[in-house]
Amino acid sequence: MMKIVTVVGARPQFIKAAAVSRAVRATPGLRELLVHTGQHYDDNMSAVFFEELGIPRPDHHLGIGGGPHGAMTGRMLEAVERTLLDEKPDAVLVYGDTNSTLAGALAAAKLHIPVAHVEAGLRSFNRRMPEELNRVLTDHLAERLFTPTAAADENLLREGLPPERIRRVGDVMYDAALFFGERAARTSGILQAHGLHPKGYILATIHRAENTDDPGRLATVMEGLRAAAARMPVMLPLHPRTRRTLQDRGLLERVATGLTLVDPVGYLDMVMLEKNAALVVTDSGGVQKEAFFHQVPCVTLRDETEWVELVEAGWNRLCPPRSPEAVAGGIIAALGSRGRDVQPYGDGHAAERIAAELVHLA
Ligand code: UD1
Ligand code: UDP
Repeated sequence: MMKIVTVVGARPQFIKAAAVSRAVRATPGLRELLVHTGQHYDDNMSAVFFEELGIPRPDHHLGIGGGPHGAMTGRMLEAVERTLLDEKPDAVLVYGDTNSTLAGALAAAKLHIPVAHVEAGLRSFNRRMPEELNRVLTDHLAERLFTPTAAADENLLREGLPPERIRRVGDVMYDAALFFGERAARTSGILQAHGLHPKGYILATIHRAENTDDPGRLATVMEGLRAAAARMPVMLPLHPRTRRTLQDRGLLERVATGLTLVDPVGYLDMVMLEKNAALVVTDSGGVQKEAFFHQVPCVTLRDETEWVELVEAGWNRLCPPRSPEAVAGGIIAALGSRGRDVQPYGDGHAAERIAAELVHLA
């Protein structure tokens, strides 16, 4: 029996792990233990996903959230190492590009435990993003690189990573969108709760450091969204980081007049909001792709994106938030647009492929 320790900590990882854990636990020969670092800790950023998506309860909860990057990652490194020394797994599974990902991968690699990285090979080529540092380092620590796309394979090969470590499996978020998509339509009452009409509103999310840390840039994004809202209502489930920053700068009240602000929502409500939106406006990685999975156009308020396929196919438009006018103009220009018929993220069975590969990893 092969023992896998999965390390998760942030919202998008719970959703990816929901898809993969199901497949891992259905695979003979694999046993999984779940470690939650505690990076995201509010109920609506963590517990809700475990309950709704049937993710097994974490076997270890490390309780490490908040604080600057070095302190957070360092404390996680220490605690994950202790857990791995106790559990002695045959492999460690990590997802994406958060501080929890890097801490999990580094702790394991130093103990000579093979690391498998789900969503390997993504690059923004912007080293000022904390996520870019986390993903480059994690890819170079990993023994098995599970990539979602052809572009990801190319990025890894360009960095000299050996082809035999790479397995293109597809995108596990696509698996999750297919699996839970139908359930969302049956169970979510979020549209009625907020008086939203199908294709009658814009769904926005904003949380990236590059958009929230710089006061001018955050104000620009919010003013742009407010201007767009004059054309069509904007629904904004607010990440706690963004809420806190708006509050600290005295901007929250102004933003709340003009936009429909709500607390972060569960995954099923989010899927419902995405499916029925006229347009998605975001700086999230996962939300860019989910817009496409549900065939909704997307405007990405960033300077670059890792998910280049969607820009090439016309589903996603990059709109660097230079001014409120640029943001509002970019949003309004994208209303009613569509992309080409493409399928860059696999067939919805990425999780099964990952589970099958893990059996051979140790
Ligand atoms: C993290 C990831 C980012 C990912 C995002 C998903 C890193 C470097 N960043 O960013 O890649 O896209 O998660 O959402 O790992 N907070 C709360 N309650 C919570 C969680 C966070 O109040 O449950 C607040 C805290 O003030 C915290 C701040 O948000 O300090 C930032 O949280 P953190 O986990 O450091 O980064 P995110 O911006 O969430
Ligand atoms: N999400 C959610 N509720 C919200 C906002 C996002 O369930 O209020 C989900 C979203 O559907 C996607 C994931 O969280 O599956 C994306 O996470 P996030 O935007 O926090 O991080 P990123 O993908 O940018 O790392």
